[in-house]
Amino acid sequence: MELNSSAGKDKSALIERLLKELPVFKSLSDKYLSQLARDFIVFQVKKGETVFYQSDSSTDLYIVLEGAVRASLLNREGQELVLATFDKGDFFGEMSLLDGKPRSATMIAAEDSVLGMLKRERFLSAVKNDPMIAIDLLSAVVQRLRMADGMIESLAFLDVSQRLMKLLLQIAKAEGEKDKSGFFRIKKLTHKELAARTGASREAISKVIKVLAFRDVVREEGNCLLISPDAESGM
Ligand code: CMP
Repeated sequence: MELNSSAGKDKSALIERLLKELPVFKSLSDKYLSQLARDFIVFQVKKGETVFYQSDSSTDLYIVLEGAVRASLLNREGQELVLATFDKGDFFGEMSLLDGKPRSATMIAAEDSVLGMLKRERFLSAVKNDPMIAIDLLSAVVQRLRMADGMIESLAFLDVSQRLMKLLLQIAKAEGEKDKSGFFRIKKLTHKELAARTGASREAISKVIKVLAFRDVVREEGNCLLISPDAESGM
């Protein structure tokens, strides 16, 4: 849903602030940045809604203004592999923007979100105005390539149990709180979500969670998952 004009004004101020913080636009002048912010179309997506599908032919660039979206590959059975999650201030859609080819992944709102969309031509004219944008975009793309290498490495060399522990420890370190017993407390993810983020089937994740629970490495408690401080040494 596109936002109305008064909300749109607020959003354009928000975009301007976020653009200033984005490394990719850091070399633009304030004046140019506020012009560019006005060219973004702002819209809302509800959790679970698709922003665009893999193979779509659009070429616009997106920025997450609020919420979070994930880039996923889906097979015919609807099984999902999450490639990356983008939060407030992150951009996506740069691959089709750069090479004009169809979208490489499906983007799904992971939460109720507000997104800003910029037309390819508008982005390209910003690059002409300041070619440093292209260098900074390249550096962001290289960073994503490194993350993708890490994912390929995990899929090739780690079993499901190790991949799951790696993911849980990553989340625990990024956002977990330690409780009195030293366990990291993180928000519970469904087995389906864990499967999508580790390239495993839901059944395989359920089996692994049972084994990890038996070994007291992972505890499922209400809306939380508790991760043992010894989990790392067991990997
Ligand atoms: P695009 O191909 O235009 O649309 C899908 C988007 O998902 C893509 O641009 C990137 O922004 C993002 N994407 C695709 N693959 C990856 C990946 N391996 N890591 C991070 N982001 C990705």
